[in-house]
Amino acid sequence: MTVPTNINYKPWTSKEWKDFFGSRVRQHELEEIPWDKWIDLNEEEQHLIASSLQEFQLGQASDGRVWTKRARQFAEANGDYDYLEAVKTFLCQERLHSHQLARFMALSGIPQRKSSVLDGVFRIMRRVGTLESSIVVLVSAECVARVYFIALARSTQHPILAKICRHIVDDEYHHIRFQHERLSLIRAERSGIFSAVTRFLDRMFLRGTAFVVFRVHRRIFRRAGMQWREFYSLCKTTS
Ligand SMILES: [Fe+2]
Repeated sequence: MTVPTNINYKPWTSKEWKDFFGSRVRQHELEEIPWDKWIDLNEEEQHLIASSLQEFQLGQASDGRVWTKRARQFAEANGDYDYLEAVKTFLCQERLHSHQLARFMALSGIPQRKSSVLDGVFRIMRRVGTLESSIVVLVSAECVARVYFIALARSTQHPILAKICRHIVDDEYHHIRFQHERLSLIRAERSGIFSAVTRFLDRMFLRGTAFVVFRVHRRIFRRAGMQWREFYSLCKTTS
């Protein structure tokens, strides 16, 4: 995985992240999705996106209990309670995405799913291990989800879905940066070789995740004209 490099990159404090996520949630609440201008999703597009959207809506709907527990442990061990608050506001954003997608699906006659194999595997992986391994799993999923929503925005004719996708893409960029910064902090003391091995394993995990998602949701990527090379390249750079 690569930390975004197209900005003047300076890690933020937990308080800065907490304030930032809080302001983004408020901004999105104000920046209403124009639900009153609803137009029906055409049948062909509904058929194309339904099962794919169900999967990603489910993925965004995590309650974050394990994540919050790990963040609390980290906060207590390091006296960094703003980190816990930052994680909570970050989770509010994820829930907002999930609610927006759920509302879009309800209006389009697409039922929500309660579970899926892919989502189940990710949830189990996030639950086992440490805060570090949970972040690696989460940030890989976010890198891939971000590119998925870029592809969905490109492929949809529906203005409201396109707007929701743009919100998510924008937010995920910051989520990924937030997670990368915490990983860097956790790994700051590691030796060169150990660090290199860790980065290699991270990259392999990202590649595996990207491969599975690209295969499962290939119809969306095909419609967006996004080949594997572009898709994986965007997953790696996350910018
Ligand atoms: Fe996210």
